[in-house]
Amino acid sequence: MIEVNNLQKTFGKGDEAVHAVRGVDFQVDEGQIFGLLGANGAGKSTCVLMLATLLAPTGGSARVNGFDVLEQPNEVRQSFGAALQETGLDPLQKGVELLELHGRLYGYDKATAKARAADLLETVGLSSDGGRRIGTYSGGMRRRLDLAAALIHHPRILFLDEPTTGLDPASRRAIWEEVSKLKSEGVTVLLTTQYLEEADQLADHVAIMADGVIAATGTPDDLKAGMGADVVDVDLADEAEAIRAAAAVGSEAKVVGNEIRISATDGPAVLARVMNQLREAGIEPKGVSLTQPTLDDVFLNLTDGGSDHE
Ligand SMILES: Nc1ncnc2c1ncn2[C@@H]1O[C@H](COP(=O)(O)OP(=O)(O)OP(=O)(O)O)[C@@H](O)[C@H]1O
Ligand SMILES: [Mg+2]
Repeated sequence: MIEVNNLQKTFGKGDEAVHAVRGVDFQVDEGQIFGLLGANGAGKSTCVLMLATLLAPTGGSARVNGFDVLEQPNEVRQSFGAALQETGLDPLQKGVELLELHGRLYGYDKATAKARAADLLETVGLSSDGGRRIGTYSGGMRRRLDLAAALIHHPRILFLDEPTTGLDPASRRAIWEEVSKLKSEGVTVLLTTQYLEEADQLADHVAIMADGVIAATGTPDDLKAGMGADVVDVDLADEAEAIRAAAAVGSEAKVVGNEIRISATDGPAVLARVMNQLREAGIEPKGVSLTQPTLDDVFLNLTDGGSDHE
């Protein structure tokens, strides 16, 4: 549904040039949620704006729903709905009016636009707020209205640029539920996010962007597995007990103070085995923990915690 080949965007020229996107490749299959993850300035929005035909690439190519973004922009625009960063909502307009207007812009007659607006307000949980001015909405309500507006023409592809940035956990969860529901209806979603948890929760496939390139790509589980080992730590009464415990477990156990530490690719299985070995040796652990790599570890590893290149 989305195919991106060596896509590039440079703003400005010469010394002033900013290479925002420097040769990005990815593909999103029908019905997938694809997460473009990256810190501020990584190039996420620039990618989305090129796919949405709002910025012209300076190199490479992209197809949306089979249509080329440069050669067939009108067909591309018919194919997707988008909720982009910093959309200007008119604070004096009512939520329902905005949706009706969008419906009219997509060619619906008045009655159809009205019915569609009411449906969508219901979908995003804003039925009782549609009659209020947008200026009185909370951040979460605005995002939900953005999402509703993106859905007006029943697009099969959805671009969401940081749909939950700045929202509280409950509002974030409400958006996640909505996006999951759309996926279950077969909608293909490209979303950008700075939240690892969001990518982990929602995305079938993730690309981590840093400084205009894709630094890593895969399923959230692939990326975590690429980080290597799980770590099992067992807390013991004292160092002497830790040395006895390490002897009972075998050579892979390292003594660290009062603890023994075992690195393994299959942490849960190793944890169970170690507990058995200690019980058989008559050793009572004081505590035990299993640490598995998170997407955070992957992300920090790749981006050094941030990628602004001013
Ligand atoms: N119109 C523009 N003119 C010049 N530089 C730009 C323009 N738009 C973006 N950039 C630069 O391109 C780089 C990537 O910006 P982009 O907005 O794509 O990042 P992002 O990943 O969406 O970040 P954020 O998480 O903050 O939204 C940044 O260095 C930014 O300053
Ligand atoms: Mg952005």
